[in-house]
This record gives sequence, structure tokens and C-alpha cells, in this order.
Amino acid sequence: MIFGCLRIRLTFRVLVFIMNDVSAVILAGGKGTRLRPLTVFTPKPIVPMMNRPFLAFQLEMLSAAGVEKAVLSLSYQPNKIEDAIGDGSQYRSKVSFVTEPNPLGTSGAFRFAADESSHTFVVLNGDILTDIDLAKVFEQHRNTKADATIVLVEVEDPTRYGLVETDDDGRVERFLEKPKAEDVPHLRSRNINAGIYILERSVLDLIPKNEHSSFEFNIFPAILEKGLNFRSYLLGDGYWRDIGNPTSYLHAHMDFLAGKVGLDLPEIPVQIEIATAASVDRSSLFGEGCVLKPNSAVRNSVLGPGVMLEEKAIVENSVIWGHSRIAAGAAVQGSVIGRSSFIGRSSSITKGTVLGDKATIPDYSVT
Ligand code: GTP
Repeated sequence: MIFGCLRIRLTFRVLVFIMNDVSAVILAGGKGTRLRPLTVFTPKPIVPMMNRPFLAFQLEMLSAAGVEKAVLSLSYQPNKIEDAIGDGSQYRSKVSFVTEPNPLGTSGAFRFAADESSHTFVVLNGDILTDIDLAKVFEQHRNTKADATIVLVEVEDPTRYGLVETDDDGRVERFLEKPKAEDVPHLRSRNINAGIYILERSVLDLIPKNEHSSFEFNIFPAILEKGLNFRSYLLGDGYWRDIGNPTSYLHAHMDFLAGKVGLDLPEIPVQIEIATAASVDRSSLFGEGCVLKPNSAVRNSVLGPGVMLEEKAIVENSVIWGHSRIAAGAAVQGSVIGRSSFIGRSSSITKGTVLGDKATIPDYSVT
């Protein structure tokens, strides 16, 4: 049976103009410790998202805004990222890679990777999923003649993010890194740093070369201190989520399946084997070569390539990485299972479980 995946938008290329004067840097060198165990063998920038390397979405977002070249700033497991992304042409991008000798922090890494001949830069954290129209951010950046523009997004609970306060015209006034829960009711806004910046050369020049530094703790305060024109762009209705921990990684998949993410997926036909008595809903996504045996069921889930469900196995609201096997009668609910794992017969993998690659769960277990 052939299952294609979702919509494709064909018109956008004629609508954008190429921005050769802008150079993009994607920060993709973090260790991704909060996303362990998924990031033990797979660095965060290429963890599968809807069965594609995560960075695919960012590269396509840049290209949709006319930014066709991107430098990937790497540090942790760089070779795996280079192998997965290649020259970027699959994602309508021309990609080059810069690997730091030691992790230099977010702004130190940007300085190390930035093309010195450019005047305007767009910098993305490599772990955010968003359908923002970057062209609009560029437009505002230019209209306000900003030295720096930071994208903000309003969140319910800002305590694990960097909060940004602005004046009524959107000028950035103050940063508050990870506000305390007891201070939240007294905050002027709940707008946080969305990890997307447009920066002029004047900002690059503030960053020391070959030194560890962070945008959040060093460079943004320095921009304010120097009195540069520092603006914000509020995302508004768009989709935004960071995938930095397993809960948000799973949620991002659920949002995609629910149609909440305004991004296109390529239409790649896959060959999968579904027994007549197996049941599959319309929202689930399958990788090449999945096998579903009689009376197994998949609901609202993403299965990577080569995943096998034996008789009466059930997978629901979950993400299963490639080549894993769910044995007969096992049930997986609301969980993320790493690559080449084995879930034993009649086991119950309950909501919130996260298993790394090659996990083996013995028969009749409950997690
Ligand atoms: P945790 O270890 O879970 O905190 O994740 P992380 O290492 O990715 O750190 P964090 O989420 O704060 O990083 C935000 C973005 O910056 C991610 O896309 C990281 O890949 C990237 N990043 C963080 N530190 C560095 C660094 O030293 N060098 C480079 N090149 N990128 C970095």
C-alpha cells in the first residue's frame, strides 16, 4: 500500500526575491543535554521531525524568505550533521559547515561562523520549529533601520526562557533570563526570546573573536549598553515551539499531525505493508518499509522507516524512530522510542516514556 504525506506548496518561489546581501547562521552546536537520551547518538539539529532531519524546516524557512545560503555552526557530533544535511540542495539551500574547536557559546559560535564580508545576518537557534514569515521580519528590520531585531513570542510560562521587555514601540529595554515563578504574575509581558535574530555588522563587531560568549548574557546587554537601535518583532499568531526536551519534541509532532504548524511537508510516496485487519488513522505518518501485522493499530503517531508492529500491537500519540519493533500485544501511548528499539510482548509503555536508541524492554514490562 502507498501512503503519501500531506500538502505541498508550489507557488512560493515566484513570490520571493533573493537576498544575497543577507547571510544566515544556524546555531547547531549545542550538546542537547535536555533532549537525552534521544541526542546520545543523534545531535539535536538532525533528530527526526515528521521523518525529516529537524534542520530541513529551518533551511526551507530561510529559502522561503529569499535567503538561499546558510552556514551551520557546529560543535557536537558535526560529522553526523554534515552527512544528514549534505549540500542542503534537498532543502532548497546552499549549506556550508563551520566546526568550532571548542564550544564557543551562542554568540561566540556566530562570530566564529559568520561570513566577515556580509553586512546583515540572520541567526537562528537550531532547535526551534516555527512557521514565521521571515520576510516580514526583514521588512520591519529595514523599515526601523535597526542594528538588531529579535523575534519574540508570547508564552504561558516564561520560567524556562529568556524574557524580553520592550517599550510601546517595540524597542528592547531589558532581558530577564529564566524569571522565577513567583515573579511571573508581576511581569509586564510574557514575551520571550524566540531564538531568531537579524543583526547588522555593528553587532558582529561587539562580539569578541575566538572567545566563549552568549547572546543572552553578554551581547544583548552590550547592545543595550551601547545604545544601538535594538528592536523586537512579535510573532503574533504564528506557530513556535522549541524542541529542546522530549515533551516539547513529542508535542511538536502532535501539533504537526493536528495541522497546527503552517509548514509544508514534501510529498514522498512510501511503500508500507499493512495487514487487512490492521487499523491506521488518517493523521499518522509512516516512513518507508513499515510493517503492520494483523490487528495492530496506529493512531495519531509518526513511525520512522522500517518500524514493525506485530499482531495486536498498538501505538498511539507517539513517535517511534526507525527500525524499532513493537512485539505482539504491546501498547505504546504518548511516548518517544529511539531507533532500533525493541518493545517486548504485551508490554505497556505509558504516557511520557522516552527511550533511547537500541532500548530493549522485556516482555510484559510496564514503564
Ligand atoms: P541543552 O544542552 O539541552 O541546554 O541544549 P543546547 O546545548 O542545544 O543549548 P541551548 O538550547 O541553550 O542552545 C540554543 C541553540 O544554540 C541550539 O540550537 C544549540 O545547538 C546552539 N548552541 C548552544 N551552544 C552552542 C555552542 O557552543 N556552539 C554552537 N555552534 N552552537 C551552540
